[in-house]
Amino acid sequence: MAKPKIKYICSNCGYDSVRWLGKCPECDSWSSFVEEVIENNPRKITASTGKSSYKKISEIEATEEARIKTEIREFDRVLGGGLIPGSVILLAGDPGIGKSTLVMQAASRIKEKVLYVTGEESLQQIKLRASRLKVKSDTFYVAAETGLRNIIAAIEDLKPKVVIVDSIQTVYNSELENSPGTVTQIRECTAILMADAKKKNYSVIIIGHVTKEGAIAGPKILEHIVDAVLQFEGESKQSFRILRGLKNRFGSTNEIGIFEMHDDGLTEVKNPSELFINERDRNTSGSVVTSSIEGTRPLLIEVQALVTSSNFGNPQRVATGFDFRRLSILLAVLEKRGGYRLSANNVFLNMAGGVKIDEPAVDLAVCCSIASSLLDRVADSATVVIGEVGLGGEIRSVGHIEKRIQEAEKLGFRRIIIPQNNIKSVKHNSGIKVVPVESLTEAVTLILK
Ligand code: TYD
Ligand code: MG
Repeated sequence: MAKPKIKYICSNCGYDSVRWLGKCPECDSWSSFVEEVIENNPRKITASTGKSSYKKISEIEATEEARIKTEIREFDRVLGGGLIPGSVILLAGDPGIGKSTLVMQAASRIKEKVLYVTGEESLQQIKLRASRLKVKSDTFYVAAETGLRNIIAAIEDLKPKVVIVDSIQTVYNSELENSPGTVTQIRECTAILMADAKKKNYSVIIIGHVTKEGAIAGPKILEHIVDAVLQFEGESKQSFRILRGLKNRFGSTNEIGIFEMHDDGLTEVKNPSELFINERDRNTSGSVVTSSIEGTRPLLIEVQALVTSSNFGNPQRVATGFDFRRLSILLAVLEKRGGYRLSANNVFLNMAGGVKIDEPAVDLAVCCSIASSLLDRVADSATVVIGEVGLGGEIRSVGHIEKRIQEAEKLGFRRIIIPQNNIKSVKHNSGIKVVPVESLTEAVTLILK
């Protein structure tokens, strides 16, 4: 028998190479290459019969099938209204973030037959968790199984509408020589599950741990194959979690769902804005509230800045939840257009609550919070600041202005600073004062007490 061939595969993006590489040329991650055995006799694609088949698009019949609701409102929204039969969803997240808890809660509420396949916990452990989550369901089946063939057999037997695989890193196909968790196994098992799901028309939720570089492949390699990618994220020390849609063939992406982790499981956060701004200290400089549109919802967020003088040659710049390059640009604009001396200062920027924001509409609030901290003057806590900042220090218009104003008004803010160019699309608002601005300095003057 010929010697098995070895390839090196980037566990982050799946790029392959015949040699081991320190840095992946595709995704730039370091030390991500792992050794994989490549089969000498790759299996033939059995579906090929040599006959071709095609149809006029007008002759294809398709109706959007009823989605299966998870009955968790935030989860359903991120999915775009529920699970589509035959689709495959990847739920990715750090270990311990609450993925198993979320899917178990969903499984217990789904009104169809659900098969929860776990390779991580025993049936007893699952039962303990279920008791803790007060799961009561007659349509919720559990299998402690890692062999792909047995999983497929269980599906064949039970005929569930939803299958949950927790986690893909534990599943293996015994026809392959690679061990569970390797790139080849993960890719192969997912492909087989997908084909089976499409054939039998059930939905699959695949859980994938996002791991630090190492021997176990990250779920990134699956992103291209699956129909939707959801990411469950949050700070392990804080109780709330964000479910984010990164890709969705059947719905909008960038939709988020917000949950809070309690002793008896996750609960939905009905008013997320309150959660992100209610802990702020109104009398400290450097804190400014802004509004970001996440998916279709406005979210009020506290931007925090801390500017300190640097005793060393190179001042530090740290951004949490905000793009670092964007921060550098805004600092340059503040210096050049606003006359704020920042080049010798350390600047720390934080989107409070651990959210990640990449919307330019928060630029102005970022600038205001930095100016507030630099001058050590408290910013008005009853004002929300919105606007994109251009390189000339000018304030550019943003989308969904009406939604943002309404959210601020709903939460009791008395004033909102918006770009001048947005003012024409603002309808009459009674409860909140809308103040248009044209430049960065104008906004800073208005908000600092
Ligand atoms: P888990 O769902 O097991 O995470 P994952 O599947 O993403 O690895 O959740 C693990 C953490 O959640 C664990 O540290 C305990 C905590 N937890 C609660 O706080 N409340 C609960 O009701 C449950 C089930 C877990
Ligand atoms: Mg788990």
